Amino acid sequence: MGNNKWECIRKNRIGDPLLIDDKVLLQIANDVRANAYCPYSNFPVGAALLCSDGTVFTGVNVENAVNGLSICAERTAIFKAVSEGHHDFVKLAVTCKGNHCQPCGACRQVIYEHAPDIEILMGNPGGKFVRTTIRDLLPEAFSL
Ligand code: THU
Repeated sequence: MGNNKWECIRKNRIGDPLLIDDKVLLQIANDVRANAYCPYSNFPVGAALLCSDGTVFTGVNVENAVNGLSICAERTAIFKAVSEGHHDFVKLAVTCKGNHCQPCGACRQVIYEHAPDIEILMGNPGGKFVRTTIRDLLPEAFSL
């Protein structure tokens, strides 16, 4: 993949879904960690959300001095996508330092709301990842 293609994906332009395999999606999630705003936890998290048309929305955690106002990388990516009119999500990659990155409970509920059939790749900067689904991460999920 050339640099131009990569830039298009990072800027949420429509890409070729066939080119966005699991490793690419995890790499995008890991690259965007550099943008995390996390002066309180010093724990950067990156997310990359793949839509069915090949568009990728990225997200990072954005913290705040007031407790409770911080947002996780996963929700940033989903809210960016929904607010741009996207609703058909197929895969979400998340990375952070450590073994592999498990989405928090709040994010699981939000992911389920918008994408009950989504696959989730929980990764780390070294490329290790665990493949799962939101249905496995949030059994008996609440919905209206
Ligand atoms: N965090 C995420 O962004 N996603 C996760 O899956 C786990 C936790 C963030 C929240 C907070 O900014 C920092 O990581 C430490 O908890």
